[in-house]
Amino acid sequence: MTNSGALQLAGILGVGSFLPETVVTNDELAARIDTSDEWISSRTGIKARRIADAGVATSDLAIAAGRSALLNAGIDASELDLVIVATCTPDHPGSFPSTAAIVQNALGASKAGAFDMGAVCAGFSYALHVGSQMVRSGSARYVLVVGAETLSRIVNWSDRNTAVLFGDGAGAAVIGPVAEGGYLGGLLGANGEGGKLLCVPAGGSREAVSEDEADRKYIYQNGREVYRFAVSIIGEAALQAVESVGLTSRDVDCFIPHQANIRIIEKAAERMELPREKVFVNLDKYGNTSSASIPIALDEAVKSGRIQKGNLVVMVGFGAGLAWAANVIRWSV
Ligand code: ACO
Repeated sequence: MTNSGALQLAGILGVGSFLPETVVTNDELAARIDTSDEWISSRTGIKARRIADAGVATSDLAIAAGRSALLNAGIDASELDLVIVATCTPDHPGSFPSTAAIVQNALGASKAGAFDMGAVCAGFSYALHVGSQMVRSGSARYVLVVGAETLSRIVNWSDRNTAVLFGDGAGAAVIGPVAEGGYLGGLLGANGEGGKLLCVPAGGSREAVSEDEADRKYIYQNGREVYRFAVSIIGEAALQAVESVGLTSRDVDCFIPHQANIRIIEKAAERMELPREKVFVNLDKYGNTSSASIPIALDEAVKSGRIQKGNLVVMVGFGAGLAWAANVIRWSV
């Protein structure tokens, strides 16, 4: 990529998503582990999730979502300056090589730089903020931002505390110059003190995976503490981001929070004094797909007509880190 250095407005020009075909319902999970549709539905709002077949990698989902977003934007991959893939389940350990580089090559984005964004469930919001700033600053003209996950590979399928929560999928957005509105602003936040509340304990440089404690290579979560954190941060981050661009929550037309738990989303909407019809929810169909959840929801919101030109769209991602991010966009296409 090259750098023209000219300032310009940046907005989302197109969106796309891709979900694996295999649906696993709560009842199917209940046949395998000690849980029930009633418990999962009432505690989380989740009814089903998609699971990628063996042999399907995160990049496969990301490439399909990226292609769909490029088509929707009317931009050719050869025009991209940058590809960012937000993921905590990269094709290779340590993103070595990055999933973004694999996507860049498969799409034919020959002049684009590529890197992975590691902010787990806040990853897409982080990447959208960074990508938009690149376009705003004139450092890039077109940026593809993807959130893609195969969380099924790092879920312990015999742990009912976590197995019921997660799913696989990918969503993407193409950012580029717009004449008016577009990306108004956002915020990035983190509190590493809470890192141990939600993590994959072993398999990185801190701890090797041992045969005795093989479960430590899967997602561990202190659900109650993460719930408390999430409830306190989502509404607050959204309000801060909206106020930072001189608006209030009354101006919000569509709120897309990370799709982790309906109770968390309802509490955030309450804090923002937002009516239910302004809050987009699809976690019942897909569960928590980490960095993919916001772009999948965004794609559905746009394609179903819930987001129209001129609407104020606010997104908030949160999760492991602990980390969170918010984006405020005046929809411009
Ligand atoms: N089926 C049946 N019972 C279960 C299940 C299950 N799947 N899972 C846990 N239980 C049991 C527990 O063992 C516990 O039993 P006990 O009281 O006998 O010990 C009981 O249900 C209640 O457990 P709680 O933890 O109190 O349940 P809670 O109402 O807090 O709901 C949940 C748990 C859904 C995980 C909730 O805490 C939550 O949503 N936390 C936040 C999750 C989240 O948003 N994570 C973000 C991740 S983002 C990222 O970066 C990956």
